Amino acid sequence: MESNKQPLKTPLQKAARDGFTTGLGVILVTMGSAVGLGNIWKFPYMVGAFGGAAFIIVYLISTLLVGLPVMISEHMLGRTAKADAITTLQKLAPKKQPWWLIGASGVLAAFVIMAFYSEVIGWVLAYIVKAASGSLLTTDPNVTGAAFAQVIGNPWLSLIVQWIVIIYVSVIILAGVSKGIEAAVKKLMPALLIMLLIVCIRSLTLPGAGEGVAFLFEPDFSKLTGAAIMTALGLAFFKLSIGMGTMITYGSYFRDDQDIPISATKVMLGDLGVSLLAGLAIFPAVFVYGVQPDAGPSLLFITIPTVFASMPAGNIFMLIFFVLSAVAATGAILSLFEVPVAFLSDHYGMSRKKATLSTAIALALVGSLAALSSNVLSGVSIFGLNFFDLFDYVSQNILLPVGGLFICIFVGWVWGFGKIKDALSNKGDLQNSGIIRVFFFLVRWVSPILILVILLSGLGVIKI
Ligand code: PHE
Repeated sequence: MESNKQPLKTPLQKAARDGFTTGLGVILVTMGSAVGLGNIWKFPYMVGAFGGAAFIIVYLISTLLVGLPVMISEHMLGRTAKADAITTLQKLAPKKQPWWLIGASGVLAAFVIMAFYSEVIGWVLAYIVKAASGSLLTTDPNVTGAAFAQVIGNPWLSLIVQWIVIIYVSVIILAGVSKGIEAAVKKLMPALLIMLLIVCIRSLTLPGAGEGVAFLFEPDFSKLTGAAIMTALGLAFFKLSIGMGTMITYGSYFRDDQDIPISATKVMLGDLGVSLLAGLAIFPAVFVYGVQPDAGPSLLFITIPTVFASMPAGNIFMLIFFVLSAVAATGAILSLFEVPVAFLSDHYGMSRKKATLSTAIALALVGSLAALSSNVLSGVSIFGLNFFDLFDYVSQNILLPVGGLFICIFVGWVWGFGKIKDALSNKGDLQNSGIIRVFFFLVRWVSPILILVILLSGLGVIKI
């Protein structure tokens, strides 16, 4: 009876499915997915480019009214179906309705995001070596700019650092959900927090740090264009790892007694805390040393090193900063990588080994387009963007919000209140009917309408 040929849905095989072991494990691992380069690389440069606090306010609203409901929805769907993103929607949707396409777009988004994400982690690794060797210890942005250009301009270096990332991520994934992902992230998250606090204290105790803090907390609404608002919404999706099946996949590993609305709220708040800490680590120092805060994506790699070089014992803090960036990014890329791996093993019954290897090879191929976009392929542009920027733009601003929109429509209009109540109250074990009603209202009306309006205005279809 226990033969391997049993159909997928037998109770025996369900029990054998790997999953997260403790409630704390669930929160840390989910937070590990949310916290990443989004907090340390994207959040600061976008805040810098779009006027500081005004952007943060829109980002906050997007997180609360859209991000959180979508995250709760995904955890709920995944835990109910206990399967990868595509299979989950196939199992839960009415027969013949193609809701599984949300999951399919999620698997596609996982590759598109990993393609450029793995490359940025690769740059961070290269910078750890550079920071350790002391070669970045200069206050001249022309020198750090040349160092960055040398990394991204070298095709072999760009490919090799990306392969290193793919290999170490594959090794952790191979060890499994609890023994690989959960065990690794449980160690990485505390380390990340300690390092971030150290850099924050250093930055905030510099004389004149107040100007950077003011920049973070005093809104200038003049920079809030439709595109800026769309960026804030997209960032909320990217930050919380939603709209593409990561949280469905992770939800499928949740324990049945997990209080989903509460744990998702903790993850959202924890992630926000890390973004603000990253802002507090970066902006005071940026202002103290008179560097431009609106440098764009290169802020982390060109501007930040000069800031560290200006401060006492800067080389040590710079090293800590790049190590913490790599640590944060690892928890995030693990969750991206798990999306196709779970799909291949749950849907096609592939062994974890085969699924990991296939994902790694596919990623090396798609990822090479991003790795080579600043060197061999620098002449290739689509809609005016090279592959790296195209992958980043399309995933953050289109795939994730559109995925999130359909998840809201599915949960709010197709799945229905009865099933939601059952799933979020753990079949009546939790007394949270008020929370469930608020969630239902948000996911049915507020979140989808906001996503739609922001998407259409960001793309210039309507004017608000
Ligand atoms: N949330 C991660 C970050 O901020 C990125 C990510 C996006 C991870 C989508 C998983 C899914 O860096």
